[in-house]
Amino acid sequence: MKDAEINDIAIDLFVEALYRRYGYDFRNYARASLKRRVKELALALGFNHVSELISPLLHDPAFVDQVVPKLSVPVTEMFRDPAVFLAMRRQVLPVLASYPRINIWQAGCATGEEVYSLAIMLKEEGLYDRARIYATDINDVALARAEEGIFALRHLKDFSANYLKAGGRQSLSDYYHAAYEHASMDRSLKENMVFARHNLASDGVFCEVNMIVCRNVLIYFDRLLQNRVLRLFRDSLIRQGFLCLGTRESLRFSEIGDDFAAVDEDQKLYRKVLIAVGES
Ligand SMILES: C[S@@+](CC[C@H](N)C(=O)[O-])C[C@H]1O[C@@H](n2cnc3c(N)ncnc32)[C@H](O)[C@@H]1O
Repeated sequence: MKDAEINDIAIDLFVEALYRRYGYDFRNYARASLKRRVKELALALGFNHVSELISPLLHDPAFVDQVVPKLSVPVTEMFRDPAVFLAMRRQVLPVLASYPRINIWQAGCATGEEVYSLAIMLKEEGLYDRARIYATDINDVALARAEEGIFALRHLKDFSANYLKAGGRQSLSDYYHAAYEHASMDRSLKENMVFARHNLASDGVFCEVNMIVCRNVLIYFDRLLQNRVLRLFRDSLIRQGFLCLGTRESLRFSEIGDDFAAVDEDQKLYRKVLIAVGES
């Protein structure tokens, strides 16, 4: 048997152990990137082979806290893909403005840059006071950083450029305080944010929301898991709620494609059209 095949078996056993011992379900993640991340994890922890991860995983409950954050890819930025935020500002927020309360679920929020971007946009459109953003992820380390809202100052130049392209009305520097190497996001932005751990692979409906923003998360999942998550999103959205996916993700060819209409297919903005049983 070749080394690559033995490695494949070790990865299967590792993923199974993670699921059966702790309930973290990576079984339906896209295989190639998961393999790469498990191998990198083994190396980072000083092991020569993936199989060496299995024993500490089974016998040392603290070990899983080192594992899960390293399997997730919390890469993000403020106003990432500014055209998406511009489209959201122009095509979605004016509709949300007609609701007395606006609940938004930001799933897979990583270190929170997108959550603060949404809060800024809602503030500028006069909607933040009646909004609540539920920001979730499986990575506790990333979630803690998101809640802090402190970002490396060296990224702020790029973030500012994104903000302006996304239709920003002021200067991004109006929303943070710079000190030494860090930018600390203004406290008023955090008022209506709730951070929580939620696993899209295994947890149920999180809450009923007007909009779900889940970008650059589905790309890590296989088709089966993508469909599970998309069903979860459909069931979490109110009638005519909005869904925003990543630029490399789409509802086309998904099981629930017919339950949504494209608001802007280029920017991956969709609106739920499904009328639930019992509703007219
Ligand atoms: C590349 S980041 C995307 C961040 C942000 N949405 C963006 O587009 O900039 C992917 C995030 O998805 C999270 N993630 C991966 N699997 C998840 C799961 N099963 N449930 C919830 N979040 C998950 C990771 O922890 C990571 O923070």
